[in-house]
Amino acid sequence: MKNGLHNKLFKILAIETSCDETSASIIKANFKVKNLKFKILSNIISSQIKIHAKYGGVYPELASREHVKNILPVIEEAILNSNNKIQILSQTQNSKFKTLTEKWKLKIENYFDVIAVTSGPGLIGSLLVGVNTAKTLAFTLKKPIYSINHIEGHIYANFIGEISNLKSQISKLPKFPLVALIVSGGHTSLVYMKNHLDYKVIGETLDDAAGEAFDKVAKLLNLGYPGGPAISAMAEKFPISLPRRQAGNSQFSNKSQSSKLKFPRPMIDSGDFDFSFSGLKTAVLYAIKKLPKPLGSKTKAQICIEFQDAVVETLVAKTIESAKKYKAKSILLCGGVASNDLLRKKLKVESEKLKVDFFTPQKNLCTDNAAMVGIAAAYKIALGKRPTPWYNVNANSNLKLGK
Ligand code: KG4
Ligand code: ZN
Repeated sequence: MKNGLHNKLFKILAIETSCDETSASIIKANFKVKNLKFKILSNIISSQIKIHAKYGGVYPELASREHVKNILPVIEEAILNSNNKIQILSQTQNSKFKTLTEKWKLKIENYFDVIAVTSGPGLIGSLLVGVNTAKTLAFTLKKPIYSINHIEGHIYANFIGEISNLKSQISKLPKFPLVALIVSGGHTSLVYMKNHLDYKVIGETLDDAAGEAFDKVAKLLNLGYPGGPAISAMAEKFPISLPRRQAGNSQFSNKSQSSKLKFPRPMIDSGDFDFSFSGLKTAVLYAIKKLPKPLGSKTKAQICIEFQDAVVETLVAKTIESAKKYKAKSILLCGGVASNDLLRKKLKVESEKLKVDFFTPQKNLCTDNAAMVGIAAAYKIALGKRPTPWYNVNANSNLKLGK
């Protein structure tokens, strides 16, 4: 152990501001050789969704301004809640923080020992707020700082284990080698891991991310932002009246509907693990152009069902192929799109057929949050990685995994 945190109980303050959620978390971790135990004491997420909804996507300049406004109240709330001994996992109303009755009992430096911060990839103006806040705390309080890749954070949300009664219980954890599918608004990647912190990106999107495709299709259908939850809700709300086919190229057996609403499964047979979703979005656009206007709810629902099926089928097929090729013992699903019920269900079923263990975080830990960043840092500490001197921690919007 080279980082001085051996056999020690320590608390991590984790900070995440890579996109449009300002989040801070306090994690209590106890490292004993090969036996890392931790508890999420608080995980505060201030979402900017309402602010960006009218633009149909994240407006970067507004996002960084909101982070500047929110970062200190969010950190304060994370610290005070951890001290209260109240375990919470809450989503604060945007900019409306709870009235805190608990007064600061200790000096700030007594509430945590280590700082973890997302340094990339993400929106540069957003990342800079979290990174500079973390650096300032590290510099003034003389605390070690761990720089975490956002995608690494999403992957490590799978190592939290099951949380019941809001307490972290390390139950069954993923085994190596594993493959992880990371699907969010900004990323779609398949990652092979031989061991902890050892990443090999084996597939990526060549254009739009899966979540971005959900957001763009929702915009075409006037369903609001973020598109993923809106599309899956629409697909579930209006169960299709037409008979649906089994998994295959089209859901619809009715010929006229089928010819209008049959979307491609992009690159499903490409023989590699890369993805492409921009053609699928264009196929939806052309289908909409051909349909009589205004689009009724049922027609919109049919488009949502078929689009969601096309994305899910492609993601599941490639992930299962990669698990076979890399002889994975576990399949991990994470990132914002991992909260999609159909994707969770289909990937679980296919993993079970392959006799491979399937993991996905509980839904509120799929979308951006600081707890996942803190858990990734806890593993780095447990594995003896050294912190980065604060003056070498920099925001990098194109940060690559494992670099
Ligand atoms: O990980 P995340 O919170 O932020 C990024 O790092 O991008 O992911 C946000 C993305 C958005 O594109 C949103 O539409 C998508 O996750 N998403 C979903 C669902 N919930 C969120 N996509 C499909 N189905 C959902 N239920
Ligand atoms: Zn994310």
